[in-house]
Amino acid sequence: MAADAGQTVKIHPLIVRITHWVNAFAILIMVASGWRIYNASPLFEFKFPTAWTLGGWLAGALQWHFAALWLLAVNGLVYLTYGILSGHFRRKLLPVSPGAVLSDIGAALRGKLAHEDLRFYNAAQRAAYLGAIVLGILLILTGLVIWKPVQFHSLGALMGDYEGARYLHFFAMAALVAFVIVHVVMVALVPRTFPTMFTGRAQLKIRD
Ligand code: HEM
Repeated sequence: MAADAGQTVKIHPLIVRITHWVNAFAILIMVASGWRIYNASPLFEFKFPTAWTLGGWLAGALQWHFAALWLLAVNGLVYLTYGILSGHFRRKLLPVSPGAVLSDIGAALRGKLAHEDLRFYNAAQRAAYLGAIVLGILLILTGLVIWKPVQFHSLGALMGDYEGARYLHFFAMAALVAFVIVHVVMVALVPRTFPTMFTGRAQLKIRD
């Protein structure tokens, strides 16, 4: 698509913007209530500070977790279906190669990662977004095994059964929280990306 500097172009379709913010809200609830559920029976030596958790007590936290789960699952399904069928994932998130991702991460660490043309994601963004999508799917699948270990017995067998699914669920949560922290820091470093996730539009800085 040819476009001139200064021209306003559409970069995020409405459905991506809506599902993105619904997803961010659902994940916030899932993580905060999940931390409260974890505190009731910790896997490791530590607990999450109560002030960072949601639900008050185990049963309350479980209710928040299940309520937000449906929001996350339905919203995620809409995003995935749209992303695959419309070609959005193919256009915006692919191709991505390990070499390009490593060179982008190196550039980011030197403070030289380019995200001038907001129509395109750089390789580090592509890998991070694809990773976040995979983590979301893994969280739902491991969550199903923890929720109904008997009914999802065959799925559980792939993850080391109930105990294995619990550890995987925890590590996938930790990785997704790490993604969100880095993601929000990157948005803060390139603040003009922020309004585009609401308006869908960006003004081009470069001529192509
Ligand atoms: C909480 C969990 C979050 C997840 C899993 C997530 C995931 C994603 C994904 C997958 C994309 C790419 C969307 C696409 O084009 O298909 C994206 C883009 C974006 N996200 Fe998030 N996000 C989260 C939270 C946030 C938050 C809290 C902010 C605001 C600070 C934010 C700001 C943005 C912006 C501005 C973009 C567009 C980046 C650009 O055009 O360069 N996200 N996010």
